[in-house]
Amino acid sequence: MSGGLVTAAYIVAAILFIFSLAGLSKHETSKQGNIFGISGMAIALIATILGPDTANVGWLLVAMVIGGAIGIHLARKVEMTEMPELVAILHSFVGLAAVLVGYNSYIDHPPGLPAIMENIHLTEVFLGVFIGAVTFTGSVVAFGKLRGKISSRPLMLPHRHRLNLLALVVSAALLIAFVRTESGGVQVFALLIMTLIALVFGWHLVASIGGADMPVVVSMLNSYSGWAAAAAGFMLSNDLLIVTGALVGSSGAILSYIMCKAMNRSFISVIAGGFGTDSSSSGETAEVGEHREITVQDTAELLKNSTSVIITPGYGMAVAQAQYPVAEITEKLRARGIKVRFGIHPVAGRLPGHMNVLLAEAKVPYDIVLEMDEINDDFADTDTVLVIGANDTVNPAAQEDPRSPIAGMPVLEVWKAQSVVVFKRSMNTGYAGVQNPLFFKENTQMLFGDAKATVDAILKAL
Ligand code: TAP
Repeated sequence: MSGGLVTAAYIVAAILFIFSLAGLSKHETSKQGNIFGISGMAIALIATILGPDTANVGWLLVAMVIGGAIGIHLARKVEMTEMPELVAILHSFVGLAAVLVGYNSYIDHPPGLPAIMENIHLTEVFLGVFIGAVTFTGSVVAFGKLRGKISSRPLMLPHRHRLNLLALVVSAALLIAFVRTESGGVQVFALLIMTLIALVFGWHLVASIGGADMPVVVSMLNSYSGWAAAAAGFMLSNDLLIVTGALVGSSGAILSYIMCKAMNRSFISVIAGGFGTDSSSSGETAEVGEHREITVQDTAELLKNSTSVIITPGYGMAVAQAQYPVAEITEKLRARGIKVRFGIHPVAGRLPGHMNVLLAEAKVPYDIVLEMDEINDDFADTDTVLVIGANDTVNPAAQEDPRSPIAGMPVLEVWKAQSVVVFKRSMNTGYAGVQNPLFFKENTQMLFGDAKATVDAILKAL
């Protein structure tokens, strides 16, 4: 394939990626968006493999078959609740690839470039390795936190913001040394030390962010992985990689910004790492009063005697796969003339839109599934709220305790209803590791057990 044809194929692929992003921004067109993305990627791969710069195609195919087989196996096996972990670990691969491309590009660079080109090349290498290394360890920590292997509580090292600043300043000094020096030894030393600093910096950046803020972290790492890919594109002089990286980088940054707004967080503090964690309280997990329990039978009675019910689902409903009996209960109550609606928090579960997908799967009508902003004012006029496997997203501490790690985050104001029944298995905290005063309020009762088992039992009782 000639260079011209490869460039033409790259342009088509880039346009398909833009259509893909546009399609993925709405439920109705998301399948189409996926197809555009897959087609763009197929064209990009074929053009790259058959292009004039590619040698040893046999090895490439072997690597692709192995990588593809692992990818297909993982994608088929992964549960919906594990999706963010998969995304996080995939981001780490992009980061690692950028580091390896950077080192390769440094070792393999053509001699005798004009001084200005040489400086540009070295700067690309340095920045590519830096962004890649930060993305790599940051994503590994995000993976660990999402999988529960690393505590979701923020790591609070003393002077942590100063440590971050120091890492950046030393890296900038190393960049100057790397570009200015004539000595290969000094260059290798600067590159290695910066890589170490960037690896620790990435680790620390994500480790110091609390569990409740993980959605923003994942989209932020998504953005970093895009910039890492763009940097690799510059080093490899591959235009499509630059364009694709920039698309991922900027769309990830826009998503992070939107999520920060939805969660009432400062975008700048997220980028700086450890936002929302300057509070003096780290969300003590001690219980703050007495909780009351309710039985399945009494919950069924409470529902029968209500005229309006709101269900606020969370991560526990996804784990228990309780959406199907929840949908059946909804149908039964609606058949009795009871007004039933769902209140969905923007970060309920572990994925953007997680609850909407589950409820759609269980065929709950769209028009009774409302966003937090649409339903928050209605809790005061509601008889009964069923909190099914949700915790952080219904935590009044976000409004009542300015020292709480989740202070300021908008939450579903379920406690304003007449009665609240919380479905969970224990008094454990939610993902953010913060105690929930809702459980100890006068109008709240706990219904312990696996959400699917308890919802099934209520269905029977109804
Ligand atoms: P969480 O605060 O994570 O709480 C879920 C609750 O479900 C837990 O307290 C748990 O209590 C209960 N649970 C777990 N398995 C259960 C089962 N089988 N049956 C019944 N209950 C079960 O949930 P949430 O309110 O949805 O909040 C989401 C949290 O995840 C937020 O902090 C959010 O920031 C974070 N996060 C969200 C995303 C996105 S994009 N949505 C991504 C990453 C992180 P027990 O153990 O006592 O049962």
